[in-house]
Amino acid sequence: MILVTGATGTVGRTLVDHLLAAGAPVRATSRRPDRAALPAGVEVAHADLGVPESLPGAVRGVRQVFLLSDGPRLAEHDANLARAAARAGVESIVKLSSGRAGDPGATDPIAGWHRAGEAAVRDSGVAWTMLRPLGFMANALAWAGSIRRERTVHAPFAAGRAALIDPADIAAVAARVLTEPGHHGREYLLTGPQAHSPGELVTILAEVLALPLTYVAISPEVAREALLEHGLAPVMADAVMALRAASLEDFGARVTPAVAQLTGRPATSFRSWATRNREAFLDG
Ligand SMILES: NC(=O)c1ccc[n+]([C@@H]2O[C@H](COP(=O)([O-])OP(=O)(O)OC[C@H]3O[C@@H](n4cnc5c(N)ncnc54)[C@H](OP(=O)(O)O)[C@@H]3O)[C@@H](O)[C@H]2O)c1
Repeated sequence: MILVTGATGTVGRTLVDHLLAAGAPVRATSRRPDRAALPAGVEVAHADLGVPESLPGAVRGVRQVFLLSDGPRLAEHDANLARAAARAGVESIVKLSSGRAGDPGATDPIAGWHRAGEAAVRDSGVAWTMLRPLGFMANALAWAGSIRRERTVHAPFAAGRAALIDPADIAAVAARVLTEPGHHGREYLLTGPQAHSPGELVTILAEVLALPLTYVAISPEVAREALLEHGLAPVMADAVMALRAASLEDFGARVTPAVAQLTGRPATSFRSWATRNREAFLDG
């Protein structure tokens, strides 16, 4: 049995599909199983990584865990799950971490949270694999509203470049790592095939959507304000802004062959991702 946490989210939901297609028995967790809307064939379990008592039932009889956690308490959540997994005799944990966790120069909060989470997983004694993706292409979905309203994208750090990854590629990698031998103790830096600036991403989107889009560079302060208006807590808004500022450093523009090596096919380009998600940017 493979346990998928974060199974209702961007990466986890696609991972569930890959595992089912591979014929693997899947248990998926949600804090709201009644709303999880997971496919038939998946065993759905209630679990909250912040509530240790909810975890023993979720990990019972499980051999591999896909561990997805988020937010300022993610290291505590990882430790809770890793402890429960060790007690239940789980063989291995595949943690969705962050590319920044492997950058020795990274001092931003999210890098620190994930490093602490990775340490908790390693300390549990359960075999582990760390998946360390750079920024997700799906973050561009946050531009859909202003594209629909005013054919404009507002984003900071115009000079920044990042080798964004398709979250579906992360799910494909996770499925391989969870179902094949040979990945214990490995840390994989996962990237897209090419680094882009925000202006280049908008140019590609304009071509894919066949719309005259304008990119407007905004200050980090204005971008932070927009995150707060969007409902993010100040601690999360600060962490996201620190992460975005990292696009000005070389590390985030790094391209690795890991997706191709692990899945046997090239990493998805931003153009392909945008084409697949075209409808999400167009008028309802
Ligand atoms: N976005 C990026 O650019 C980027 C880059 C690198 C790494 N990452 C990492 O990727 C992860 C986010 O992945 P994602 O975008 O696929 O997630 P997502 O779409 O935001 O979904 C979050 C998932 O976590 C579950 N969840 C939230 N709180 C939980 C809790 N307390 N206990 C149990 N489950 C909980 C939710 O399930 P329910 O609501 O059903 O419980 C949901 O399935 C984070 O670790 C982030 O640091 C993101």
